[in-house]
Amino acid sequence: MAATRRAILAQLGPQGRLIALDRDPAAIAAGQELLASDPRLSLWHAPFSALARVLDELQVGQVDGVLMDIGVSSPQLDTPERGMSFRFDAPLDMRMDTTQGETAADFLARGSQTEIERVIRDYGEERFAHAIAKALVAARLERSISTTGELATLVAQVVRTREPGQHPATRSFQALRIHVNAELEELSLSIPAAIDRLADGGRLARDQLSLSGRSHRQAGAARSSDAGAAAQRRAGAGG
Ligand SMILES: C[S@@+](CC[C@H](N)C(=O)[O-])C[C@H]1O[C@@H](n2cnc3c(N)ncnc32)[C@H](O)[C@@H]1O
Repeated sequence: MAATRRAILAQLGPQGRLIALDRDPAAIAAGQELLASDPRLSLWHAPFSALARVLDELQVGQVDGVLMDIGVSSPQLDTPERGMSFRFDAPLDMRMDTTQGETAADFLARGSQTEIERVIRDYGEERFAHAIAKALVAARLERSISTTGELATLVAQVVRTREPGQHPATRSFQALRIHVNAELEELSLSIPAAIDRLADGGRLARDQLSLSGRSHRQAGAARSSDAGAAAQRRAGAGG
């Protein structure tokens, strides 16, 4: 999992510093060995949107590069207890930061039918969002939807068409994960935060994004306007 960190460290000079943020405490724990062996690395359990706070604490003004390797990691998808995959029957968690926030099960227990439908439609581009939300709200009257298996079964009963090679609950799982982790909000806060702290000539790179096409475009639009505004601020340009 630390492959990117190792690759960056291999390119850094002896005075270089790598400040790595991850909101997943398990990812931070997995980086401890590398941390102990390389004084140029510091690891922070924090969301990317907290970049300014982290840099302030380290008394770092500007950075030469920011890599936003945003997305779901293999350990998150492959560890049943994370509740992100319908491949395993496990508690319906889905949080990247397991220390705080609402789980997917909590949201499905609390959210209104309209909220659940909006999340599944907007973040999953699921055309059966209305029927799925209705079925989930009806099901929770009987008992709470607390496992990935229960959610996958309920969704599969409602989704009438089958996309080749795709589980019928794929879109709903993606949508709930994006919602639970506020992935779009994080993105729209993180990009301007990174641009603000880039040194002149610095680079911002974005690696994988696990959002759907439409969500991608929304994030891209937010990024363009944020980047434009930040460039104007830095250039001291008026409106
Ligand atoms: C594909 S993995 C990146 C792994 C990393 N490049 C490495 O080599 O260890 C994506 C990671 O981004 C983290 N992540 C996703 N969104 C985040 C956010 N908004 N703030 C902080 N970490 C985030 C996830 O918890 C996950 O561990």
